[in-house]
Amino acid sequence: MATTTLRMQADSFGLRPLAPALGAEILGIDLRDPIDDALKQTFLDAWHRHLVLLLRNQTLDEDAQVRFAESFGVPAKVTSGRAFSVKHPSVMLVSNIREDGKPIGALPDGEMHFHTDQCHQETPAKATLLYAIEIPSKGGNTLFANAYAAYETLPEDIRQRIAGRRALNAYTSDTMLRSANYDDAKSSYWHPVVRTHPATGRKALYVNRLMTREIEGLPRDESDALLQKLFDHQEQPKLVYEHVWRPGDILMWDNRCTLHARSDFSAGERRLLRRVTILGEKPV
Ligand code: SIN
Repeated sequence: MATTTLRMQADSFGLRPLAPALGAEILGIDLRDPIDDALKQTFLDAWHRHLVLLLRNQTLDEDAQVRFAESFGVPAKVTSGRAFSVKHPSVMLVSNIREDGKPIGALPDGEMHFHTDQCHQETPAKATLLYAIEIPSKGGNTLFANAYAAYETLPEDIRQRIAGRRALNAYTSDTMLRSANYDDAKSSYWHPVVRTHPATGRKALYVNRLMTREIEGLPRDESDALLQKLFDHQEQPKLVYEHVWRPGDILMWDNRCTLHARSDFSAGERRLLRRVTILGEKPV
């Protein structure tokens, strides 16, 4: 049975690009079925080429989502000190829903600036798998920016100014927008401003508006001005794909070569997604 299913899955694998910037929809795959090595390699090739993969109309419980994540690496334990699932320490809910007055998820409401997951840690997540359960009628879209293209289209003088430099990435409480102050950061780490993807060998611009605070070795005002330029450059609409969610969508994105943000949505509407990240390597 498993072999037949796998052969059928590999045969029906299809791909449709989502936007000039990045992204592809994978067609003909039901993620409840097992994934063999050949299909896994097909996924990986598509992921490395398109950076963000979308599968629609999936019916995934926690077990199935974690199993899919495990095909690509070790799921990272949620570090917020809160358990979102009794079975899986890697499952996090992203939601604005409150039960008994308490949020059931993390990253609660509204707009969120561009960032990459766990960039404030020594070994940030390489992949994030986000599965949509309840979606507001308007807004709450997730936007993705291509960090390879951001690096490749930088003016030469800026590329030279950032070459070999590191930047401080700091996470402050539950703020969704850049905060001026990061003295109370819960976690922070210095990473290269430009990182090289371990699988593709391509360089990507690894700073982000939400959490990158300062560039090492530059006076503060110069660092602020340069970061502002880099943020504006990497968020240009031509480098971005905006995903409008439907329940049953799952997105798998590569945090080593993309950034993501969230558009605002009404606090009066429910939004619930389930997230699993996969451990990555220390950026170089
Ligand atoms: C995230 O940053 O992992 C969540 C993005 C979203 O809620 O759209």
